[in-house]
Amino acid sequence: MASKITVKAPSSTANLGPGFDVFGLAIDAFYDEVTLTKTKNGITIITDDNIPTNPEDNTAGLVVKNMKKKFKIKNGIEIKIIKGVPVGFGMGSSAASAAASAVAFDKLFGLKLNRNSLVELAGSGEKASAGSVHYDNVAASVLGGFVIVKTNPLDVIRIEPPKNLRMCIAVPKIDVPKKKTKVSRGVIPKNIKLTDSVLNLSNASAIVTGFMRKDSELIGNSIKDVIVEPARQHMIPGFVRVKQNALKAGALGVTISGAGPSVIAFSKSSADLKKISLAMVRGFTTANTKCQTLICKPSKGAIDKRR
Ligand code: HSE
Repeated sequence: MASKITVKAPSSTANLGPGFDVFGLAIDAFYDEVTLTKTKNGITIITDDNIPTNPEDNTAGLVVKNMKKKFKIKNGIEIKIIKGVPVGFGMGSSAASAAASAVAFDKLFGLKLNRNSLVELAGSGEKASAGSVHYDNVAASVLGGFVIVKTNPLDVIRIEPPKNLRMCIAVPKIDVPKKKTKVSRGVIPKNIKLTDSVLNLSNASAIVTGFMRKDSELIGNSIKDVIVEPARQHMIPGFVRVKQNALKAGALGVTISGAGPSVIAFSKSSADLKKISLAMVRGFTTANTKCQTLICKPSKGAIDKRR
């Protein structure tokens, strides 16, 4: 058995509007790389990135610690992390490291875990950064494509996205709070109106149908959320203009990527994606905010780099 494994895991966008904590989509914008090496004892983290190196406070470290305990592994493990996914911008950065770690650990010790177990173990690492466990980003990062997360018991459904689905992501250059996901979960209302729930449920159902039918138009047109987006949008300077501009430029649907502050526009390969990106840049400019834009498509899940 190998003494060292490197796994690369993709960024992801969670929620897709109405699918809060349930929908995730792996995107090829960025990748994290995690190398696990067997050592004599303990867990050590090596990284050049600005992330915690205490295993308890690090997503990858926590996954390795939990898996080591669960499977009674005696070896020590060195974790080398190369962050590609920007930390704290709503693209599943902690989830990518967690997913890569869980998949690498599984391979390093020949555990042959099923996909629900892998997602569950990867999700246990999210606690280090988000403060609570939710599986939308990790499920997408582990499995790739579009995922629906059922909980109690955890059961992840994966659907292959349409080939022509494209996204334009605008990542604003703003300071994000340290525990951003926790902060942005704190602004969501505890009680919601039944009519709002009905609207979100109808759009969420249409998104799933869109993925089943490989209909990017239906997916994009159904990215509408009247519950979480209105509660969070004040945390993103210029959000309303960014969204309006992208829709005017031809985007099918626009929403906050995960817990933000990145904004994601859904479109098709046939659309003028550059025009949509520029429209989003202009939207952020109205709020004196610079942003980076990326045009991306759905990604495969976490993979062993030897393959
Ligand atoms: N569903 C989560 C949220 C994703 O929106 O808070 C962020 O991790």
